[in-house]
Amino acid sequence: MKPLRKPLVAANWKMNMLPTKAVSFIEEFLIHADPSHDYVIAPPFTHLSELGQFLRKGLKLGAQNCHEELSGPYTGEVSASMLVDLGVSYVILGHSERREMNLRENILVSKKIKTALSQGLKVIYCCGESYELRSEGIHLEHIINQLEEDIGVDLGKNLKNVTIAYEPIWAIGTGSSATPAQAQEMHKHIRQWIADQYGSEFKESIRILYGGSVKASNALALSSQPDIDGALVGGASLDIQEFVSIGQAFNTV
Ligand code: PGA
Repeated sequence: MKPLRKPLVAANWKMNMLPTKAVSFIEEFLIHADPSHDYVIAPPFTHLSELGQFLRKGLKLGAQNCHEELSGPYTGEVSASMLVDLGVSYVILGHSERREMNLRENILVSKKIKTALSQGLKVIYCCGESYELRSEGIHLEHIINQLEEDIGVDLGKNLKNVTIAYEPIWAIGTGSSATPAQAQEMHKHIRQWIADQYGSEFKESIRILYGGSVKASNALALSSQPDIDGALVGGASLDIQEFVSIGQAFNTV
């Protein structure tokens, strides 16, 4: 029996799709998507303004990053309040691709989370281990270390605006997802850590998404695990039928 956490299915478009194509994509997506399901679409920054017209209950906009400072001389950067001003509700922070591209990202994630929350954004916070760490059998410890560094500080009641996405790096974009059992083991471990740090109220309410090669063909098996509350979807979110099917799978359990 699954607890009462409404599934969230989030699309991380990464650096894909032209802005001029995104509008027709969303129009068609809305024809097929069940309006009672919770979706987040996180396109590149350049698409956010145009896609704001499609916001409604069940479809929220997300950004793929924001700066840790509120404003200032940071050429090329985007602030949390700019996103809020465009109607953006969520921001993805701590994604492994950003951690790999910018080595400072690891130490900035915690500050970015606090800044985003302070401006009223909800955060999809990503954590995940490399193939090497899993092979060495230290994946559980690694994720706890990440959680401690990034959200182990006392976020207090603001934790309610954080969704955790467990994304094993070896499963991202590879076509081979973690097995439902591997993902469930980690999600349970994360949930227990939340209980230890933040108490049982958050343990039951926090949504923990799985990400890493989620597709229509594996979504149902992942969604039937008791601690998997949705998905962060990269490649398959660029295909309307795939993405809608993933949403349906997570909402049928
Ligand atoms: P993928 O990406 O679904 O293409 O594996 C997931 C992610 O990076 O969020």
